[in-house]
Amino acid sequence: MKNILITGATSGIGEATARKLAEEGNNLILCGRNSNKLDDLANEFAYLSKIKTLSFDVRNRADVYENINSALNSFQKIDVLINNAGNAHGLESIYEGNEEDWDKMMDINVKGLLNVSKAVIPSMVKNQAGHIINVGSLAGYEVYANGTAYCASKYAVKAINEGLRKELNGFNIKVSSINPGLVETNFSNVRFKGDTEKAKAVYKGYTPLKPQDIANTISFMINQPEHVNLAEVMILPTAQASSTQVKKEL
Ligand SMILES: NC(=O)c1ccc[n+]([C@@H]2O[C@H](COP(=O)([O-])OP(=O)(O)OC[C@H]3O[C@@H](n4cnc5c(N)ncnc54)[C@H](OP(=O)(O)O)[C@@H]3O)[C@@H](O)[C@H]2O)c1
Repeated sequence: MKNILITGATSGIGEATARKLAEEGNNLILCGRNSNKLDDLANEFAYLSKIKTLSFDVRNRADVYENINSALNSFQKIDVLINNAGNAHGLESIYEGNEEDWDKMMDINVKGLLNVSKAVIPSMVKNQAGHIINVGSLAGYEVYANGTAYCASKYAVKAINEGLRKELNGFNIKVSSINPGLVETNFSNVRFKGDTEKAKAVYKGYTPLKPQDIANTISFMINQPEHVNLAEVMILPTAQASSTQVKKEL
């Protein structure tokens, strides 16, 4: 049984991962911004020996530190940190794009991940143990047109994953990333700002990954023996060969 903190636990990959890790009997610290959803999850997982929900925006550094310190006070230690909170905002070229979308992606996907990591890592260093799993993306390995800013944010996650692994090598802390291709979640709704038709079209004509597929893989990564670190895992739907090559039957 591990103490596991998940950001972005209120939807998609984070929520499915919470459910999978709850089934395995772990103690959970679930983070998100949607308090009602967090309350629902706390009720659903009330059977766990320890469950805590924290409502904060990963961009707000003071809130991140205050909330994670409160979790550390009640849980003593965090064994696994899953840095999952993030989204794409917009699908436009840089010259036509919306600067506020860039701010969101850099502030949430990159700086938010750094904020949460900085809040958690000192306790892992003190314990000489821990596992950080960063949810990157295929977009962190291959840039596609009109996704430049999102890809840049996920390339940054790849760099942070690699850098943290080197910085934390002396402290017995595993640092891993999981990098999905197309997963059917609320992701495209957020990207297309609530245009559900556009969002649905992304997943038409083939079988996309389900958030449960990512949750199962994260569980597999966590449950490896002490000496094994799945440092970078890429997971794609069978129909997807690259960011832009998807075999669709429409
Ligand atoms: N779906 C895909 O195809 C795909 C592919 C590769 C990688 N990913 C990555 O997977 C991760 C999870 O995405 P998802 O597909 O599960 O999408 P999702 O269903 O939209 O979930 C995103 C989660 O992140 C949270 N979040 C967003 N901004 C936040 C903020 N400022 N502070 C705190 N929490 C915030 C959301 O909470 P709110 O509801 O409060 O916004 C939500 O819980 C992201 O890092 C994404 O880049 C997704």
